[in-house]
Amino acid sequence: MNTSRTQQHDVLIIGSGAAGISMALTLADNAKIALVAKEALTESATFYAQGGISAVLDKTDSLDSHTADTLNAGAGLCDEAVVRHVVKHGPQSIQWLIDRGVSFTKEPNGKESADYHLTQEGGHSHRRVIHAADATGREMETTLAAQARAHPNIEIFERHIAVDLITGSKLGWRDNRCHGAYILDRDNDQVVAFSARAVVLATGGAGKAYLYTSNPDVASGDGIAMAWRAGCRIANMEFIQFHPTCLFHPQAKSFLVTEALRGEGAKLSLPDGSSFMEQFDERAELAPRDIVARAIDHTMKRSGVEYVHLDISHKSETFIKEHFPTIYQRCLEYGYDITQQPIPVVPAAHYICGGVMSDIDGCTDINGLYAVGEAAYTGMHGANRMASNSLLECLVFAQSASRHILARLQQTKSVQALPEWDESRVTDSDEEVVVTHNWHELRRFMWDYVGIVRTDKRLQRAKNRVDLLQHEISDYYSNFRVNSDLIELRNLALVSDLIIRSAILRKESRGLHYTLDYPNCDDQQPPQKTILIPNNYLKASTR
Ligand code: FAD
Ligand code: SIN
Repeated sequence: MNTSRTQQHDVLIIGSGAAGISMALTLADNAKIALVAKEALTESATFYAQGGISAVLDKTDSLDSHTADTLNAGAGLCDEAVVRHVVKHGPQSIQWLIDRGVSFTKEPNGKESADYHLTQEGGHSHRRVIHAADATGREMETTLAAQARAHPNIEIFERHIAVDLITGSKLGWRDNRCHGAYILDRDNDQVVAFSARAVVLATGGAGKAYLYTSNPDVASGDGIAMAWRAGCRIANMEFIQFHPTCLFHPQAKSFLVTEALRGEGAKLSLPDGSSFMEQFDERAELAPRDIVARAIDHTMKRSGVEYVHLDISHKSETFIKEHFPTIYQRCLEYGYDITQQPIPVVPAAHYICGGVMSDIDGCTDINGLYAVGEAAYTGMHGANRMASNSLLECLVFAQSASRHILARLQQTKSVQALPEWDESRVTDSDEEVVVTHNWHELRRFMWDYVGIVRTDKRLQRAKNRVDLLQHEISDYYSNFRVNSDLIELRNLALVSDLIIRSAILRKESRGLHYTLDYPNCDDQQPPQKTILIPNNYLKASTR
């Protein structure tokens, strides 16, 4: 493998989902951008988003109501100021997308052409989810990607995977600043140093830590792991959201069936047809998704069934095909006609509420390093994210972080030449099986021991195993050349460790964290977030 000279840009954005790509477009008229994606530009959780984006767009709705619903779903752990900030900027973020040509579904008989169809999802007390049929993410990501490709100030690096951040402390300097990152060009097998005045982690979530997930393969928690190694605090990692309804089919690879289906009246039942949601929550199918996922998990375990049924066939064929064309088509490929019959569904890991601690401008603990989107912990989602609030958070923070970066760009210098990636002491691996074996083992025990229902004993078992795995992976990493599988495995193991440690620390059940050993929410003291502090943590000195 070769190394090569430093790449120079004003802003290095790692990740091209909703958060990264909207930042690139917002900044590009005033700065030279490197936009890095470890797969193709559009391959991201964003691309697969179905339900839509929540925002107050209807006259009967209000910012207070959206805020109250979000706080309620967040089970006492949302930062109210952040929620208000995001909710307030929701409508203008949607307008930003519309101005860029993103085409949302309209009401069939809308009075004006601007009457968009709004759907409803769990936890929302109003219809406030704007969408592009059931493929909102695809519409948004492909529209924005085309504009990013056409912008002269955006240099796109596809199939480039960031390995680690380059910070002052790593270089032996006295500043607490991020100067860039080492990035592996996967096609040329070359690790390149990228230097920038500001670096943005927009790397998405970590669903791949679990055996069953709705997430695409890119979701391996790389940004969270890189930030931790660089010295950033990480918060609330125990709050993993399991989506209640992924298609149960051996070939479906956890195909998500949007919550909007339940928003439009789809019912859950046991395979024998008996309903069960009313026993768990008066909102039944429209309860927040932690409640629905736990209810399904409990019902499946109690009745010994492998899946439950989700049924929308009482709606007209025209309505279903118009509102859910992607789901209709995909289910048909697997032998289910949703206009005629129920489909088998199971819960799967979907979203991580925790992440890199960042403030209202996306600033992290390291100067010049920003975290936005699912990789960040901003305080928006608390102990449980409300449906369709994630894309909204990506868009709003992309704007505020961009403003913060632009205001400081001129006064920040970038480093002309960073040290080259050192691989003088590594060789090619002769034991690739270590990577595949550990990958499978990790995702299995995370599912079995750190899943929807936890216990102290299960978490301790997971901790023992992850310690062993990390030791083995670290040994392997020091001796062999990096490749993307190894980079992702190393990050997944670290992120899993952070999830397990956070889960062990929480001695109560709250939101998405449910443990049989402490089944109640601790109301005796104010809700606490879980903050993990790395050994090399230095508080950021300037903002
Ligand atoms: P992503 O969109 O995941 O993008 C991550 C980017 O980072 C990718 O470009 C990836 O290549 C890149 N990357 C990662 N690591 C590296 C690395 N080491 N080097 C280089 N690049 C890297 N939320 C909603 O609000 N509404 C919905 O309807 C909705 N539906 C969903 C449906 C599905 C199936 C899934 C999985 C999620 C859904 N969510 C939804 C959640 C939401 O889509 C995500 O939280 C959001 O898209 C995250 O955006 P992001 O920009 O932070 O990350
Ligand atoms: C869905 O469409 O059900 C997913 C929405 C979300 O995760 O916000």
